[in-house]
Amino acid sequence: MRSKIVAGNWKMNTLPAEGVELAKNIVAGKGSVCECVHFIVCPPYTHLSEVAKVLAGTGIALGAQNCAAEEKGAYTGEVSAAMIAALGCRYVILGHSERRQYYGETSATLNRKMEQAYAHDLVPIYCVGENLEEREAGKHFDVVKAQIEEVVFNLTPAQFARLIIAYEPVWAIGTGKTATAEQAQEIHAYIRKVLSEKFGAAAAETAILYGGSCKPSNAAELFAKEDVDGGLIGGAALKAEDFLAIGSNGFGK
Ligand code: PGA
Repeated sequence: MRSKIVAGNWKMNTLPAEGVELAKNIVAGKGSVCECVHFIVCPPYTHLSEVAKVLAGTGIALGAQNCAAEEKGAYTGEVSAAMIAALGCRYVILGHSERRQYYGETSATLNRKMEQAYAHDLVPIYCVGENLEEREAGKHFDVVKAQIEEVVFNLTPAQFARLIIAYEPVWAIGTGKTATAEQAQEIHAYIRKVLSEKFGAAAAETAILYGGSCKPSNAAELFAKEDVDGGLIGGAALKAEDFLAIGSNGFGK
């Protein structure tokens, strides 16, 4: 049985005190959602240590939104995998389209970040997804396949067993435009097939999350699909009520 995951990517939102408040509200409402759902919250770096205290012992896990490609040293402004792990993170989002697009992250960089994440016992949530132009040109399968081959295929089987994938079509992120459940299922099944060609039966256990304008009103339809194992939530993760409702509408109360 694959895990059912609802992960919140807060991006560069909330001040630290607001983040603590949001985390407290998520903890307070978690009882309204099926215990089968594994919640992960990924606040900005600056909030990690305070949010970790709120989440301690609640079963809700903490993640970061990025980490450095280097172990340590003279890299002004960077935050290492060891640092976020020391603050209580179990997860790290890597390869988000905003990192690829605005900060020039390539597969070469992401291979090094993945290595750092695993070296510090973090579970990467590796993001893939095509932009609108690529979708319209019918290239989405090839784009996603390359993003997987260039990074995920370099993992050892033991590392692969600790990986989460998030499929996030760039045209659906923050736009209010969601992929249909059929579009999501089609590409999630394709991703699983690509993974199985390299990693065999282990690919049946990989959680593949959908991201891109996922909200309480569409979670049920999306998560009902066989290969959609939950969501990576941006905007709707900033309201505890909506974030929790994605869990309960998607997977039950
Ligand atoms: P969104 O963002 O839910 O606001 O579309 C998803 C993401 O980028 O992870």
